[in-house]
Amino acid sequence: MTTQSPEVIVVGAGVMGCAIALELGRRGASVRVLERSVPGAEASSAAAGMLAAQVESHEQGPLSSLCLASRERFGAWAGELAKRTGIDVEHRVCGLLRVAFDDKDAKILEEHAAWQRADGQRVELLTEAQARAIEPAIGASRAAAHYPEEARVDPPRWLRALRIGAERAGARFTSGALVRRVVVRDGRVAGVEMEGGDILEAPHVVIAAGSWSNLVPGVPLGPSAIRPARGQIVELMTPIPPLRGIVWSSAAYLSPRDDGRILVGSTLEFVGFERLVTAGAVHDLIGGAMEMVPSLRGAEMVRAWSAFRPHTPDELPFIGPANARGLWLATGHYRNGILLSPITAEIIAALIAGEAPPVDVGPFRVDR
Ligand code: GLY
Repeated sequence: MTTQSPEVIVVGAGVMGCAIALELGRRGASVRVLERSVPGAEASSAAAGMLAAQVESHEQGPLSSLCLASRERFGAWAGELAKRTGIDVEHRVCGLLRVAFDDKDAKILEEHAAWQRADGQRVELLTEAQARAIEPAIGASRAAAHYPEEARVDPPRWLRALRIGAERAGARFTSGALVRRVVVRDGRVAGVEMEGGDILEAPHVVIAAGSWSNLVPGVPLGPSAIRPARGQIVELMTPIPPLRGIVWSSAAYLSPRDDGRILVGSTLEFVGFERLVTAGAVHDLIGGAMEMVPSLRGAEMVRAWSAFRPHTPDELPFIGPANARGLWLATGHYRNGILLSPITAEIIAALIAGEAPPVDVGPFRVDR
């Protein structure tokens, strides 16, 4: 290939690839992003956009800390993206109301609130009247807890802003670029071989290909290291937004938008790459939505879709160095891809620059 070699090749233009390209571009690195489809074609644009660092964490540990560290970066990232691109990514610190409808879920809710408080996180157990004062549209529930610092963003806007921001910072994107393998010489990455056989050279390669990351030959991830976990989402439209923040139960979650849309998520299914919307899932998600907010019975059903979260066996992402010098992984973010994009980008950019990353990546290394 005759193209001038970049310093960093990023494989995958989902939320991770775009955020990493932006962060590297800000630091002055020359970056080439290779995407087999088009930027944001997969899970990144299809997510509901909850920045639920607390509610998506099941225990105190490295993942919980990583999620919190990333959630707190969104304000600064959103502000900078607005300046660079003019796009409002709809970052709202809207809070999350978790509700339970039976004794079993109420116990889980109370236990979660207890360990979160012990860990110093903000969460309030509420009476039914207090819950209704926060979200007047909710129906009767058995228990409720409010997480005022949980937030949301609009994933398609987030993705577009990251991509445009990255291009303005100098990154070059190529769509329809199929990587055949990572090229390693003498234990050091040399670049990637493209579908037609051309070698694109670079001293650093970042694998950020989501559920497809372990399908790139030369990436040190076995066949079961990343599996697609299908999530189905239903989009409803309401004339006047009925919710201030996110509402969450064991059956579904509701992620509102400023314009009256409500994204209802999501299933968790291990069915390979079968991209389907099923009647049963739509039935269950809408049932879960109406249990939380009865007035949604009258909402317009706009559309539904499915996408694939990259699941790892221990449900921790792979962030950091791989088995060859200059090869980096930024994948396996499972249920927290949008949420973890800022911190992952900052970690990878720091590591490539030879600096200490903002958090310890030991728990996220591929050889953990
Ligand atoms: N974080 C929400 C989901 O993956 O469904």
